Amino acid sequence: MILVFLGPPGAGKGTQAKLLSQRMGFLHLSTGDLLREAVKNQTPLGKKAKEYMDRGELVPDELIVQLIEETMPKDGNVILDGFPRTVNQALALEEMLKDKGEKISKVLFFDVPDEVIIDRLSGRRVCSKCGAVYHVKYNPPKVEGVCDLCGGTLVQRDDDKEEVVKKRLEVYRKQTQPLIEFYQEKGIIYKLDAGKGVEELFEEVKGLVRDG
Ligand code: AP5
Ligand code: ZN
Repeated sequence: MILVFLGPPGAGKGTQAKLLSQRMGFLHLSTGDLLREAVKNQTPLGKKAKEYMDRGELVPDELIVQLIEETMPKDGNVILDGFPRTVNQALALEEMLKDKGEKISKVLFFDVPDEVIIDRLSGRRVCSKCGAVYHVKYNPPKVEGVCDLCGGTLVQRDDDKEEVVKKRLEVYRKQTQPLIEFYQEKGIIYKLDAGKGVEELFEEVKGLVRDG
């Protein structure tokens, strides 16, 4: 089963994808996480991607499509989190899956109002060591500033600074939002009210996954 998680920055896609992967065994493929790892390790991809990410812009389609081609497993249950993000990426994914005789099962659209996005992104903290995601209000660590899982220091993501968030939202509206209609026409998109709490939202996600 191949699921696509689509939605604005900070909608909670990564949080739900992690739960689905921990509790139902899905492989969580996040282009954002893969890119941040590449930046951290200063790989050739990371060096090219960094400037776009720092500005809140999308990394060029060809780099992303190549990244997905390299990491997409041959089979099994997969969540694509943050990919595709442009119509060109969606078309490339279609081709890639067609070659393997597969297709997207469902696109889950995480719908949230702008105030919620700002609130979630401004309070997000991530572990500098293991990448675990926290929120100062909604999912605080046991000890302030310290990761529960590995003891690493919690930091704010560079692109969660206010000016970059504004740009990411603008880029989302221009380049990613058209995918909603693209997938509506295919009849495979399901809208979720992602303003709900984490567990309540997970129940909805689980329901959609169980229905096949
Ligand atoms: P990426 O990492 O994908 O960023 P994004 O889409 O902006 O998504 P986020 O990670 O910000 O949010 P999320 O929806 O996962 O929310 P989360 O669960 O963390 O991409 C970063 C950059 O990489 C892009 O700008 C681009 O440059 C590049 N990139 C990536 N993919 C690309 C692609 N395909 N093409 C081109 N470029 C690409 O939750 C947010 C916060 O809210 C957390 O603190 C969390 O604890 C909290 N929270 C979550 N759910 C809830 C809830 N239900 N209630 C209360 N709090 C909650
Ligand atoms: Zn950690």
